[in-house]
Amino acid sequence: ASNSPVVVAIDGPSGSGKSTVSRAVASRLGLSFLDTGAMYRAMTWWMLTNGVDVDDPEAVAIACAKPVVVSGTDAAGPTITVDGQDVSGPIRGPEVTAKVSAVAAVPAVRARLVELQRGCAAHAARGIVAEGRDMGSVVFPDATVKVFLTASEQARSERRAAELRAKGLDEATITAMAADLARRDAADSSRETAPLTRAADAELVDTSELTLDQVIGTITALVEDRAGLT
Ligand code: DC
Repeated sequence: ASNSPVVVAIDGPSGSGKSTVSRAVASRLGLSFLDTGAMYRAMTWWMLTNGVDVDDPEAVAIACAKPVVVSGTDAAGPTITVDGQDVSGPIRGPEVTAKVSAVAAVPAVRARLVELQRGCAAHAARGIVAEGRDMGSVVFPDATVKVFLTASEQARSERRAAELRAKGLDEATITAMAADLARRDAADSSRETAPLTRAADAELVDTSELTLDQVIGTITALVEDRAGLT
């Protein structure tokens, strides 16, 4: 199996440290990196910018065929464009964050983006680390390694608050954003199509009591072991 392209599927809720960990693991192992949440965010940004009613699933299903979403998968500098425009900034804004769960719940959106995600993996030179909510369960059922990252509610909200504090946000905003995050995780976990779930064969890594370096080390070792990379 050491010659076939490696796919590392990493899933987990917001605040589990998924993005940072996945990107670092990809860098260490010389693999490509794909942030699939960014693709759902890019789709949402395009809908909001083009006046699509994102609370109307039928309108979203029709509109989602239009934008051209392209993910650059270099772990050293991942990019995301929509119709050629760099949207890496705006997709992290509060407008997109508030609406992305509604857009991500629409099956036609998922079908379109899953196809793009598989294309990214097929074109990755040595292999790819793909992170999201359904990487192990739906998109890459035959992944070389599947990891499900968790952290206690408390650890996740403390980490998120620390990030926001570092950005200079006030405590009232941080409290509001914590409530929004809990709502989003509940929506992502309970939707009908491809909800956030641990695949039966995914390694469970609880990051509550671990440092970032420890989590990166654990997953890197797991991939090296399983894929015969060194
Ligand atoms: O990881 P993130 O917070 O950037 O993800 C944004 C949203 O996209 C999140 O609410 C869940 C959704 N998402 C999804 O449904 N499936 C994925 N594979 C990745 C993200």
